[in-house]
Amino acid sequence: MKRFFIIAALWVPLLCFANSASAETFTCLACHSAMQGKIRTEGNALIDINVDADRYAKSVHGGFDCVTCHKQFQSNPHESARSGDVPKDIAALAGKISRKAKADPVALAACMQCHGDAYAAWQESVHGKNVMNGKQPDGAVCTDCHGSPHYIVTKDKIASHVNRKNIVKTCGECHEREDIAKRYNLGTQIVERYDESFHGKKYILGHPNAPTCISCHGFHDVKKWDDPKSPVAWENRQGTCGKCHQGATRKFVAAITHKPYGKDNPVPYYFEKALILLLLGVFAFIVGHVILEAFSEIRDKVLKKEKEEHHE
Ligand code: HEC
Ligand code: HEC
Ligand code: HEC
Ligand code: HEC
Ligand code: HEC
Ligand code: HEC
Ligand code: HEC
Repeated sequence: MKRFFIIAALWVPLLCFANSASAETFTCLACHSAMQGKIRTEGNALIDINVDADRYAKSVHGGFDCVTCHKQFQSNPHESARSGDVPKDIAALAGKISRKAKADPVALAACMQCHGDAYAAWQESVHGKNVMNGKQPDGAVCTDCHGSPHYIVTKDKIASHVNRKNIVKTCGECHEREDIAKRYNLGTQIVERYDESFHGKKYILGHPNAPTCISCHGFHDVKKWDDPKSPVAWENRQGTCGKCHQGATRKFVAAITHKPYGKDNPVPYYFEKALILLLLGVFAFIVGHVILEAFSEIRDKVLKKEKEEHHE
């Protein structure tokens, strides 16, 4: 009896593994969870060869075979000449986004198989057009915002790159970069401006309703702000701000901008400067007052002492 339990206990972890992942996943992981370190691909990109089996199993995709996405890695172990059937639409998309893929453009395109809506929206976004039409390597693809596809968890979990607590940082990976801001004429320090705004300050304090980047710009379908389809285009801005500020007027919605204070935006600039001056003035007055008072007290004491000495 005792022996039976020991044997059963030994089988439990193996059975669990077999349940959550098939034999195919198991063989890929036999190498990829054991191998450590980074390698250079033929395309000269540096990639991490390790896949953490536990984290993979716990991710939203943990139940899938690796080849669900890595369709060209059918032969196992894989050869450098890739084999495997790739559906035509995925192959075509893979060709268009290959400049963003470090290791396997087919895997990156394979998301469309199950997330067609997200992919369709992305293709029409400023990020998608940058990669597909502009043929640039700068626009965000799925993995830029969601992190490694092997470890994606639902957005309500703190480990998710798109969790409310992480989203500003995730967009900031690129929108804090001076080179990207310059290349696309986006205005610098977007995230800093946000952090300084009423909204950013409330967000940092943990206000549950303070808007983040995606409340105003959307996420898969982000558009240039002057595109009439953008939620922050002038035509749509009252509606967008109105989600939280009932009856927002045209004048009210002009209050939000990422433009740096200065020539473009002089009123808050001078207002802030004046406030700082006023504050410094008050401070100087208080400090001056304290010093003068202390001084007069010392003077009185000294005089008193001198008088007493004189009397003696
Ligand atoms: C026998 C060990 C072994 C097995 C099994 C194995 N791999 Fe690999 N894999 C490697 C090695 C070594 C590399 C790095 C060098 C290379 O590209 O061949 C690699 C690289 C990769 C890469 C990076 C792209 C590239 O061209 O370097 C992907 C993606 C990949 N493997 C996916 C898979 C998938 C999916 C499976 C299961 C179907 C699998 N591997 C099974 C050893 C293995
Ligand atoms: C949901 C789709 C999906 C699944 C499932 C998946 N991968 Fe990946 N994998 C990708 C994508 C997308 C990339 C990044 C491709 C790129 O940037 O070129 C990638 C990259 C890789 C790489 C290159 C290093 C890296 O992390 O960028 C390896 C190795 C790899 N996968 C192995 C595996 C193994 C082993 C499994 C199964 C345990 C697996 N993948 C399951 C989508 C997937
Ligand atoms: C074979 C189908 C399949 C493929 C291919 C696939 N996914 Fe998923 N994905 C799922 C399922 C199933 C879920 C969890 C159920 C759901 O959508 O609510 C999920 C969930 C997600 C989530 C949502 C997490 C959340 O907040 O709820 C993201 C993000 C995601 N996948 C991104 C990707 C990316 C990126 C790729 C391509 C690298 C990809 N998926 C490929 C099936 C797939
Ligand atoms: C610019 C950043 C960005 C890019 C690029 C991006 N996503 Fe997302 N995605 C998000 C954010 C943010 C959320 C969560 C939105 C929320 O909080 O409701 C999300 C949510 C999701 C979800 C959960 C369901 C949903 O709609 O809420 C899936 C699935 C998903 N993304 C798949 C993808 C796929 C596939 C791609 C590539 C075509 C992709 N995403 C590209 C930012 C991005
Ligand atoms: C309260 C709404 C709101 C929030 C929150 C918000 N934005 Fe904006 N964003 C706007 C508006 C309105 C514009 C229109 C141009 C302007 O006045 O700066 C804009 C413009 C932009 C631009 C283009 C700037 C230019 O000069 O062309 C980028 C890039 C941008 N936002 C990114 C972000 C990022 C990243 C975040 C999160 C840190 C964010 N936004 C948060 C409303 C918002
Ligand atoms: C991988 C880098 C990257 C990430 C991550 C990223 N972006 Fe972008 N974003 C860009 C680039 C590059 C452009 C300019 C593309 C162009 O004009 O061709 C852009 C453009 C934009 C614009 C249009 C600005 C304008 O009005 O011209 C907005 C708005 C924007 N991004 C918001 C976001 C938001 C919100 C997130 C996070 C959910 C995000 N971005 C994440 C790279 C990124
Ligand atoms: C997701 C909800 C949300 C959206 C969308 C939103 N705001 Fe706000 N806004 C807030 C919250 C929360 C505060 C802080 C209110 C407080 O603490 O009283 C705030 C504060 C403000 C303030 C400071 C003065 C005041 O009324 O409290 C201004 C101005 C403002 N928002 C303008 C805008 C503009 C313009 C837009 C559209 C571009 C916008 N907001 C979009 C939630 C939002």
